[in-house]
Amino acid sequence: MYKIAVMPGDGTGPEVVREGLKVLEAVAQLCKFKYETEVFDFGGERYKRTGETLPDLAIDELRKKDAIFLGAIGHPDVQPGILEKGILLKARFALDQYINLRPVKLYPGVETPLKDKGPKDIDFVVVRENTEGLYAGAGGVLKQGTPDEVAVQESINTRKGVDRCLRYAFELTKRRNKANTLTLCGKTNVLTYAFHLWERAFHEMGQKEYSSIKRDYAHVDATCMWMVKNPEWFDVIVTDNMFGDIITDLGAMIQGGMGIAAGGNINPEGVSMFEPIGGSAPKYTGKNVINPLAAISAVGMLLDTLGETKAADMIEKSVMTVTGTKLKSLSAGKMGYSTTEVGDLVCEHLVK
Ligand code: IPM
Ligand code: MN
Repeated sequence: MYKIAVMPGDGTGPEVVREGLKVLEAVAQLCKFKYETEVFDFGGERYKRTGETLPDLAIDELRKKDAIFLGAIGHPDVQPGILEKGILLKARFALDQYINLRPVKLYPGVETPLKDKGPKDIDFVVVRENTEGLYAGAGGVLKQGTPDEVAVQESINTRKGVDRCLRYAFELTKRRNKANTLTLCGKTNVLTYAFHLWERAFHEMGQKEYSSIKRDYAHVDATCMWMVKNPEWFDVIVTDNMFGDIITDLGAMIQGGMGIAAGGNINPEGVSMFEPIGGSAPKYTGKNVINPLAAISAVGMLLDTLGETKAADMIEKSVMTVTGTKLKSLSAGKMGYSTTEVGDLVCEHLVK
């Protein structure tokens, strides 16, 4: 019996989560696994009501779960940063979800802004370190608000943190067994302290433990260039927190946009959290027009991480059938179907 925490969150979060749960129920019946859900109402509304973001007591409850399914965080009446830091980043840090996993895969029938590129060219995964780097919050300010203000924001890179991220990336590259190539994305020509650590750890681990995996390196700026020009060169990319944040938005765009991009905040030894990465899209709230496929794919990733690989595979295949044969577009209001109808379509096209 899997225990799944559900955090629908703000804006269109609840609408897409509803479709994700619909698909979860359908696939559970077909694959005969059991689960129970508990809803947590953290988000902008709760914050406005009570001033709470994600309290420590809730973290303790989340720790007892097998996985977390998150809708979207972000509310137009709440100052930017409060919910992001108080909920999303807090969960990542408190639950030590040290991997941010973002598949970049162009599904059939989905339009990419890249000219002459198709599904066979765009299929890679980004492994982003999720608890260190610039996100660790190290640094400080002096003389704030004066003309002499000094702001320091430091990137924290620990050997342990880098090693565990690299290990996950090597293992994933092996499991994927596609081009067996892991690309380290960094900036070794300028950020010589941080990325020399990454580089040494990368080659040491690769040489000693993953000799069957080809190691490649690209600077982050060049990575952006190649992701647009030759995305087919990538199999798995591993990078730090900040660079990973940036290149995965680029990745989301080349795979068809925020309607389809899903991600996982993963603690391989603990509780992981899965989400559509698109945000709360307040202007579409309650209209039943938002695309739920990213949330549905997040459920697929959640099941894959729980070891329900067959169910995860069924969801992905069904999503591919729906993008390939049904939807007119992935954009809100232009799909040719409502949010609930897209959820129904994915359920109907699950094949055992
Ligand atoms: C993401 C988001 C978050 C991040 C924000 C909302 C804090 O952009 O999940 O990529 O920067 O990690
Ligand atoms: Mn981001």
